Amino acid sequence: MSYNPQKKPVIAVVGAGPGIGEAVARRFTAEGFVVGLLARTEDKLQTMANGIDADYGKGSSRYYITDLRVENDVLSSFKKIREELGQVDVLVYNAGARRVNGRSVLDTTTEEFEGFTKINLFGAFWSTKCVLPDMLAAGRGTIIYTGATGSLRGVAGLSSFSPGKFGLRSLSQVVTREYQNKGIHVAHLIIDGPVDGKLIGGVRRRQWQREGATDILNDIEAHIMQPADLAKIYWYLHTQPRSTWTHELDVRSQKESMFSKL
Ligand SMILES: NC(=O)c1ccc[n+]([C@@H]2O[C@H](COP(=O)([O-])OP(=O)(O)OC[C@H]3O[C@@H](n4cnc5c(N)ncnc54)[C@H](OP(=O)(O)O)[C@@H]3O)[C@@H](O)[C@H]2O)c1
Repeated sequence: MSYNPQKKPVIAVVGAGPGIGEAVARRFTAEGFVVGLLARTEDKLQTMANGIDADYGKGSSRYYITDLRVENDVLSSFKKIREELGQVDVLVYNAGARRVNGRSVLDTTTEEFEGFTKINLFGAFWSTKCVLPDMLAAGRGTIIYTGATGSLRGVAGLSSFSPGKFGLRSLSQVVTREYQNKGIHVAHLIIDGPVDGKLIGGVRRRQWQREGATDILNDIEAHIMQPADLAKIYWYLHTQPRSTWTHELDVRSQKESMFSKL
């Protein structure tokens, strides 16, 4: 059954949480897309989808409960998206998993390394394979992978994060080299610093609140990246003219030092 009777263009936001994922979903929906939201937690997905539909019209979004560590889950969600919304025009692979507090290689278990790497890399591989055939048949499509400082730097304590993010960067280059000349625009966006949200950016925000750093809190955009501002970059990448496609872009807030975690 189609839930996209107007045949709006379709974006799949894989790893749809309240931060970048939702902001990207909202930005593309505001531009006339219908969005498929993929994550594990139904109540969070439902709240997000309800909010998007309330703001942009009923049927602007649908959610698909998916564990990106499980190939069959990924395949079945994309199959449902195709049946219910239509072929995916834009894939944003946004899921990522890391420890807030680092842990050394010796203290990192195989289970953690494997689980996080599945989210950071394998889910992207499977998602990419799901959307490419239709994109190639159409001769166009956009795939944007969300990276981090850890995509370029093997940071001490993040052995279960950086290897997957390095791999994601490599995958994005491979997909570019294999499919760009067939019409697929692939971009890897390196988010170099904390994003305003519950986890990494939230830790900093709470620290500034405890310290009474009102000067910083009153000028928060200069210190932590805002999801809605990041969403503008995803839209910008998607809408670039074919004569000027970016493959890789790095962004940070004004007062963040560049690739500081060396
Ligand atoms: N936040 C930062 O400070 C920061 C900084 C640099 C880079 N990044 C990158 O930005 C991306 C995330 O952005 P965000 O932090 O704003 O997050 P977000 O968009 O708010 O949420 C991402 C969502 O991914 C979902 N997810 C995680 N593991 C999953 C799994 N196994 N299967 C399905 N879904 C899964 C989670 O939902 P469920 O738990 O419901 O599954 C989570 O809510 C990541 O790639 C991260 O590396 C973030």
